[in-house]
Amino acid sequence: MKWKYPLSDIDLGRAEEREVLKVLQSGWLSTGPVTDRFERAFSDFLGGGEAIAVSNGTAALHLALAALGLKEGDEVILPSFTFVATANAVLYTGAKPVFADILGHHNLNISPTEIENRISKRTKAILVMHYGGYPCDMGAALKIAKRYGLPVIEDAAHAPGSEYRGKRCGAVGTLGCFSFFSNKNLVTGEGGLVFTKDRTLAERVRTMRSHGMKALSWDKFRGHLSSYDIELLGYNYRITEVQSALGLVQLKKLERNNRKRRRLVGVYRREFEDSSMIFLPFVDFEGPYSYHLFPILIRSGSQVRAASLRDQLIRSLKDWGIQASIHYPPVHLFTLYREQFGYKTGMLPMTEEVSQRVMTLPLHPRMNATDVEQITQKVKEIVKRWS
Ligand SMILES: Cc1ncc(COP(=O)(O)O)c(C=O)c1O
Repeated sequence: MKWKYPLSDIDLGRAEEREVLKVLQSGWLSTGPVTDRFERAFSDFLGGGEAIAVSNGTAALHLALAALGLKEGDEVILPSFTFVATANAVLYTGAKPVFADILGHHNLNISPTEIENRISKRTKAILVMHYGGYPCDMGAALKIAKRYGLPVIEDAAHAPGSEYRGKRCGAVGTLGCFSFFSNKNLVTGEGGLVFTKDRTLAERVRTMRSHGMKALSWDKFRGHLSSYDIELLGYNYRITEVQSALGLVQLKKLERNNRKRRRLVGVYRREFEDSSMIFLPFVDFEGPYSYHLFPILIRSGSQVRAASLRDQLIRSLKDWGIQASIHYPPVHLFTLYREQFGYKTGMLPMTEEVSQRVMTLPLHPRMNATDVEQITQKVKEIVKRWS
């Protein structure tokens, strides 16, 4: 399928080609000096701390949770309105995902009141996700966390460059996790990163990234170590130098591209202002965010009718070469989660209702205002036939 307007697109150019070529010519491809540079640059970007680049965002989440020592019998509170990776990472540790509802139509992020209501003796961590790059209420989440002595992990996969009260998302909680998958704001194909200001946690993440070894092959190559011991179960979640080289260039472009996305969101908002069928979440969010997704909610009728209209709209847009998607079906209603934990419909009313009404429209820095006008025009034309 060749989309006229794909949901996301990558801004890759000569600089990326040059830096990747340099890596290939260097003869060292696995985690090494370019990754060191990428980690330092990302840490600076987040205001200083420990940045550990890994193979993907899911691995970043798994390592963050594993570094906190989560295990069977523990519980983690998180949103169900997220990509399944957020919750799967909890399952990898053996802990139980305890889902909290979102705030509402205007704000699709986890509700702090819901977080607090779900805290039990078994709760060991709070895991929040900044939907579309719009920051969660971190002030409230951190207050609750402090009251119960819990760490807060930020799934900042959507939020590189987003700011919460002057701090970068991913650097506000105990640990922050990023994804550099191909549809993200900063792209390395596959890739991810864990950020923390806690040196002990950082050391654990770094060690667990590579089988529990304290040193990498790169260190051995440089003659820094010849043997090793394993104190901690680790994984192979290493990133390659090719990915890190892409990451370094992409990081330089990130703020400019986020500003482009912000302008495009401005056009979307203006174009949909008068639509009685389309509701826009996060309209009062205006600031330095990553604007990763552009979600809309179908306003009309019951949830069931909204879902059917939404699916029709996605199909009709496809005929016009416009790619739309659903971010997200609720995780707690996936078969695996229903069967393993007995989760049922009705458990998270707002998440369930929004997931029936939500869809996302194309948003990426290679678009321009005219593209947005064309897309909104088509959407408005189709939804007009409903009334
Ligand atoms: C919210 C969220 N969390 C985690 C991930 C997982 O990242 P990755 O695909 O790099 O493993 C994604 C990626 O799509 C995501 O959107």
